[in-house]
Amino acid sequence: MQFDILTLFPGMFEGVFTESILGRAVRDGLISVRIHNIRDYATDKHHLTDDMPYGGGGGMVMKPEPIFAAVEAVRTSNSEIRTILLTPQGQLLTHALARELSRQGQLILICGRYEGVDERVRLHLVTDELSIGDYVLSGGELAAAVVVDAVARLVPGVLGDPGATFRDSHAEGLLEYPHYTRPAVFRGYAVPEVLVSGDHARLARWRREQSLWRTKARRPDLLEKALLSDEDRKFLEQLAKDEQPQ
Ligand code: 6GU
Repeated sequence: MQFDILTLFPGMFEGVFTESILGRAVRDGLISVRIHNIRDYATDKHHLTDDMPYGGGGGMVMKPEPIFAAVEAVRTSNSEIRTILLTPQGQLLTHALARELSRQGQLILICGRYEGVDERVRLHLVTDELSIGDYVLSGGELAAAVVVDAVARLVPGVLGDPGATFRDSHAEGLLEYPHYTRPAVFRGYAVPEVLVSGDHARLARWRREQSLWRTKARRPDLLEKALLSDEDRKFLEQLAKDEQPQ
């Protein structure tokens, strides 16, 4: 899968795609990440990429020409390629959307900067506008790195363990269960007994219940959309009853 990131600040991506899981995926040829400087696509003498807003007001606006030229140069085919503008006004990134995007052959990510981007980029160039959360970043670069990470790890082969993405928090709409490793007792704190019991059925049930309990305690909003079995619902009803004062 190919990711093309269009930015005015290519240096912000140093390290992100050479380390750890993404670094290995790049070296293994499972993904390719290219960083393009939008300034290189400005054709005027001073390579201007921003200008004053029509109608006045503060701040600068990113000009449309270099962005259109950059996108047209990096598209690998004429068929519609998902072209994403990173902006706090976009649709929120979710695990479900990351999975959908991981099925694309190429993604183009445009990092917005300054006060904004000429509206014609939104209207006539981009297919998606994405945000990574309800807070404001100083530009789309960090958000683009987040999108690439969330999508790339869902590309087959990027994670060593193919089952890992199905156990992830959010994969089924629930938060993940707690993890422990050796030693069994650390500074007097023991791991839960079920983990060392060797009882696989009890372990599976414990993990599921921990996921349900955590999600209910921390992100009750997620439970409304989660895929729940009858047994899960019974457990949650019991939890609700136990919380009532005796
Ligand atoms: Cl995509 N861009 C900016 N500038 N801020 C953000 C964002 C994106 N997502 C959340 N905050």
